[in-house]
Amino acid sequence: MEDVPDPAPGAGEAVVRLRAAALNHRDIWIRKGQYAGIKMPIILGSDGAGDVAAVGAGVDPTWVGTPVVINPSFNFGDDERAQGPEFQILGLPRDGTYAELVRVPATALHKKPAHLSFEEAAALPLASLTAYRALVPRAQLQADETIVVTGIGGGVATCALLFAIRLGARVYVTSGSDAKLESARAHGASGGVNHRDPEWPKALQALIGGRPAVIIDGAGGETFNKALDLVTPGGRVVSYGATLGAVPNLEVRRIFWKQLNVLGSTMGSPRDFAAMLQLYADGLRPVVDGVLPLDQAAAAHRRMEEGDQFGKIVLRIS
Ligand SMILES: NC(=O)c1ccc[n+]([C@@H]2O[C@H](COP(=O)([O-])OP(=O)(O)OC[C@H]3O[C@@H](n4cnc5c(N)ncnc54)[C@H](OP(=O)(O)O)[C@@H]3O)[C@@H](O)[C@H]2O)c1
Repeated sequence: MEDVPDPAPGAGEAVVRLRAAALNHRDIWIRKGQYAGIKMPIILGSDGAGDVAAVGAGVDPTWVGTPVVINPSFNFGDDERAQGPEFQILGLPRDGTYAELVRVPATALHKKPAHLSFEEAAALPLASLTAYRALVPRAQLQADETIVVTGIGGGVATCALLFAIRLGARVYVTSGSDAKLESARAHGASGGVNHRDPEWPKALQALIGGRPAVIIDGAGGETFNKALDLVTPGGRVVSYGATLGAVPNLEVRRIFWKQLNVLGSTMGSPRDFAAMLQLYADGLRPVVDGVLPLDQAAAAHRRMEEGDQFGKIVLRIS
């Protein structure tokens, strides 16, 4: 922890006094130097919620004092199909939310859903936006479809579980932990299998009694090949991450022979963020793994690196 000068809002910007931040795997990649465009020093953190402390020229002054959640997806651009060249994520290159104050474009401010605490609100932004875009604009998930979400302990994965259930789908999951499979069932999953069993796709197919129409995967690696194998012919596999790294011997034959739709997905547009936030405004609550004080950010990182979490790890800022 160290002191830095307070940020001041420029034209079109606001400064938010943060009450909570949350971790994303991105923060780990950046800390390890395994992310594009590393800049030092940098204050990490893409997720934050707090009260607007000040606004710059051209910003409605009634924002000051409003409890907000920040959309960390800046400059997505006008094309809903993909972000443009000016796209940025809060927490690199701009200083992020592991801080008391953060400076953001005023367009990133959204009123905090009233029923959520600041800690719950801080758990939303990046993971929920990613999960929403993967499920809705990309996979076009329909009610009554069967979907598999891999690695359910992850922040994005738990959001995908909540949203898919809300959209009326039957959700099955994988995890390296039987306790997390149990937690997923408690949150409404229809069932799940442990991905430490190399035959997990067969076990899942038996459990489902068929093949899923959609798979949402953030693991990459061999898990992605197995997802291509498991999904139904003509189905959709959405990739939003590669925690396990590159896909060895990508099974291209499966893609063409099974007429698959392989869809990439990254964060989301302002339209996606507003639609995602509406799901929470309608009563949903995020899955929070635990809350630690900001000065224990290192311990929070260790928990994420060891993969112990189920849901979002939050930092309380007082
Ligand atoms: N494209 C985007 O916009 C975007 C946005 C957010 C995140 N991401 C990427 O997506 C990934 C997940 O991010 P996150 O913040 O949700 O991370 P996280 O909370 O650290 O989750 C990672 C999860 O990976 C799962 N996992 C580990 N080994 C696995 C395996 N063999 N098969 C399937 N799952 C496995 C674990 O689930 P279990 O513990 O249940 O096994 C773990 O909880 C990261 O690579 C991140 O960089 C991309």
